[in-house]
Amino acid sequence: MPKTEIRYVCQNCGYDSPRWLGKCPECGEWNSLVEEQAGPEIKTKISLPEIEKVMAPRPITELEFKTEERFETKIAEFDRVLGGGIVSGSVVLVAGEPGIGKSTLMLQAANSLAKSMGQVLYVAGEESTKQIRLRAERLGTLSKNLQVLPETNLFAIEKNIRETKPQFAIVDSIQTIFREDIPSAPGSVSQVRECANYLVRLAKSIHVPIFLIGHVTKEGSIAGPRVLEHVVDTVLYFEGERHKQFRILRVTKNRFGGTNEIGIFEMREKGLHEVANPSEMFISERSKTSSGSVITAAIEGTRPILVEIQSLVTSTSSGYPRRTVTGVDYNRSSIIIAVLEKRLGLKLSSQDIYINVAGGVKVDEPAADLAIALATVSCYKDRPVAKDLVLIGEVGLAGEVRAVSHIGQRVKESAKLGFKQVIVPKTNLTEISNLKGVKIVGVSSVKETSEISL
Ligand code: TYD
Ligand code: MG
Repeated sequence: MPKTEIRYVCQNCGYDSPRWLGKCPECGEWNSLVEEQAGPEIKTKISLPEIEKVMAPRPITELEFKTEERFETKIAEFDRVLGGGIVSGSVVLVAGEPGIGKSTLMLQAANSLAKSMGQVLYVAGEESTKQIRLRAERLGTLSKNLQVLPETNLFAIEKNIRETKPQFAIVDSIQTIFREDIPSAPGSVSQVRECANYLVRLAKSIHVPIFLIGHVTKEGSIAGPRVLEHVVDTVLYFEGERHKQFRILRVTKNRFGGTNEIGIFEMREKGLHEVANPSEMFISERSKTSSGSVITAAIEGTRPILVEIQSLVTSTSSGYPRRTVTGVDYNRSSIIIAVLEKRLGLKLSSQDIYINVAGGVKVDEPAADLAIALATVSCYKDRPVAKDLVLIGEVGLAGEVRAVSHIGQRVKESAKLGFKQVIVPKTNLTEISNLKGVKIVGVSSVKETSEISL
């Protein structure tokens, strides 16, 4: 037996220390150092692909290149997030909380590829084959070309992938896979990092795209996290609220495309369905007669989406007013509340304020400021805004309404969903072409907006 050495490895960032520490000096996380055995020097079994063997530098103009080969899963929301389909030889991390629907999404994608492309390998490290079969029955994703391998040993998985050379492989999940020559337990940083690294080199050397499913902890980081994000080509986050039916697929890193797209799905009885018209979904449950509810048009990726901003203002029962915000940035809403106090003279310091984006979506752009402001004023005065009104604009500290990007798209989306009035920043007016049946009003301050809409 080769001698093994005890190391303490931060499970958050991978920092490695010879002794235990309460706080990781690298990432500042408390209690994250876990004892792991540093194994004997790890030998890499995979030979590097041809291109990496060429050591001498060459002029950039002489480097070989071709646009990467992609294949589509035909799940349009999924392909779009990836930047137009799966790139040959790429490694994608699909991260999300347990139970959010990662296995379901990947099984549906796998089935679709198995039908159109050929052999697909599903490595099941987490669930029994019986469970997977049952899920596939439920989803109607039974295809002969979809091979299921119940295995967690990395080298056995490698052997199988090399022998069967599937078009596409899924590892569910990376936290269950282990290298037998590393002594620490599956799911530890060393295992996750080494296994992922190994699979990345495998994918590149035989041009098989591999999707790794990774769980995130409740703090939102992937177990064995940043190390994993660095080694893969693309990172997708699958998120949503467990008790709500819709799910959002977000891309936070993509070597083969943009990182601003989102895909929206709905979890139904028989699996995930694409949501072709998200605006309709997010505003469908709106109460049209109560105060404190305002619609705005946000841009998610390249698409405009209408969302409902809600605000509830009630008098404080304790000495300290509560500010609870979900779906929008806390600091931005604090600024907006301060602007309302100072520039509109609202007495908000004796009021609790709750701000929420209906449906559990997150809106993190300043164009929603005006809607946050008006929802709050509307609730404070207990006067609803017109039900066919959309508000768009950034709010400055002086209470002025500032121009936003993509105004044309936002106004068009509002018109498409039947809204008849859109309030926009005055400085944006010249960019908007007239739309039949829609009244577009330019405003220059929050005060003015409040006067004309309440
Ligand atoms: P799953 O894909 O197992 O989640 P993950 O792999 O991210 O842990 O999905 C689990 C949840 O999805 C489970 O609570 C049940 C629900 N679900 C449906 O609502 N409809 C379906 O058709 C399927 C397969 C799952
Ligand atoms: Mg799963």
